[in-house]
Amino acid sequence: MQLTIPAGLNRSEAETYRRLDPKMLPRHIAIIMDGNGRWARRRHLPRIAGHKAGVEAVRSTVETAARVGISSLTLYAFSRENWQRRPRSEVSFLMTLLRRYLRQEVPTLNQNNIRLGYIGRMWELPKPVQERMEWARQATAQNTGMKLTLALNYSARLELVDAFRSILDAALNNGGIEHLNLDESLVSRHLYTHNLPELDLVIRTSGEMRLSNFLLWQVAYSEIYVTDTLWPDFRGVHLLEAMAEYQKRERRYGGISPEEELTHNGNGRAARRPQPETAGSLR
Ligand code: FPP
Repeated sequence: MQLTIPAGLNRSEAETYRRLDPKMLPRHIAIIMDGNGRWARRRHLPRIAGHKAGVEAVRSTVETAARVGISSLTLYAFSRENWQRRPRSEVSFLMTLLRRYLRQEVPTLNQNNIRLGYIGRMWELPKPVQERMEWARQATAQNTGMKLTLALNYSARLELVDAFRSILDAALNNGGIEHLNLDESLVSRHLYTHNLPELDLVIRTSGEMRLSNFLLWQVAYSEIYVTDTLWPDFRGVHLLEAMAEYQKRERRYGGISPEEELTHNGNGRAARRPQPETAGSLR
């Protein structure tokens, strides 16, 4: 059967898309966008030039993800550690870049039917930034396609702290903690990501083998793909390459492979595979 190539893909994207099984696309992809500084240093440019160039990579990746039908894309734009440990001038540039990005991108997000959302301690960001974020969120809220989530002032450990606080608050307002039925699904429902699908694939650019305090709870059963490409050089085609690699992986969720199940059962029928408690969209 002929594979339908989604509209809007360029030639190299279309070629890579042909290698994919459209029925097995990851539902939720998260990206640790790293390497802006190194990209700039290699060109003898200031670090901020790397961040500026990174915006083009965001644009290309977001559009390609939406075109091929990814339901949720989460981008680690700004960690809480970035906010506290980088020079003030760089932080302030990133804030300006974010405000500009939001203003400029809303029409494109709407054209691509993309809904914007955020995770992180938004309330600690400067007021004008929060206002622009809320404006962009509302301006795209009617869209029904891909959910684009920007992680801003985000820390996975603090997300867990905030979730535990929220669980305690809810319990205290609802009969006290003795009635609390604490399990994985309750914790998941109190995370910033409660309305996103299970995380299938995490991509990190620029070759570092770290999660850097990103989605530590959600990553439990995700596939991890690391590429040496620096973020400003990353494009939609690289996203599709990561998806092709993802489709080669065998996801076992702590079980055994289907071949081993067959050998083990000896009856030619694979046993039903165990799924984690918060399976949601897991495949
Ligand atoms: C990491 O590179 C990147 C960041 C801290 C910022 C990410 C920002 C962008 C990609 C551009 C703006 C994004 C949006 C959504 C508007 P690094 O500076 O740590 O690079 P290095 O490790 O090479 O120094």
